[in-house]
Amino acid sequence: MKKSLVLALLLSGCATYGTETAQPRQVEESRNAAKALATRLGGTLKAEIGRNGPASAVGVCKEIAPQIAASLSRETGGKVGRVGTRVRNPKTGTPDAWEAKALATFDTRMKQGETPDTMELAEVVTEPSGKYLRYAKAVAVQPQCLACHGPSDSIPEGVKARLQAEYPMDRAIGYQAGELRGAIVVKRPL
Ligand code: HEC
Repeated sequence: MKKSLVLALLLSGCATYGTETAQPRQVEESRNAAKALATRLGGTLKAEIGRNGPASAVGVCKEIAPQIAASLSRETGGKVGRVGTRVRNPKTGTPDAWEAKALATFDTRMKQGETPDTMELAEVVTEPSGKYLRYAKAVAVQPQCLACHGPSDSIPEGVKARLQAEYPMDRAIGYQAGELRGAIVVKRPL
């Protein structure tokens, strides 16, 4: 799809692919599911860091992040998850083709000065397995993410050790605050 068209769709708040138009209500539901994931996960992470520190929160994140995503998927009927521009958990965090395109679009728009806070993309796509509403919300790195995703010298030794043990293939470090970290994604059958 042409970039100008994607932009037009974003501005109009609904998504089209060919002749397909997503209902604004369906886009709103995906947006709410993405918000719920961010809120629940952020709250859990903050509480655990406060209670037991960031090294312990690595383990919690490993257990809890997929659980929250799975329960939201059950509640909303769409598949809710997170993908990264660089990936920590390759099983769940690797973007597929549509998600990679969304991340590339977000990256370009951020370079043009747009804030990631409200940045999203929604599109109806037909895949071999059926028709879906694909949705992505940009996720930027905040200062509190740096203990686990920042440059090496901002990551406490205990966190480094946990990350190496749990995620030997980890590529999701070296981020600066304000950079694009990834997206919360929702894939909903239509
Ligand atoms: C306590 C350490 C910790 C903090 C703080 C933290 N993360 Fe993570 N992050 C993790 C772990 C561990 C995973 C892998 C979770 C899994 O296995 O599903 C992860 C995965 C992710 C992913 C999924 C993609 C991937 O690489 O697997 C995104 C997106 C993400 N984090 C964004 C953030 C953002 C944004 C913040 C700050 C608001 C943040 N994280 C703060 C530990 C942390």
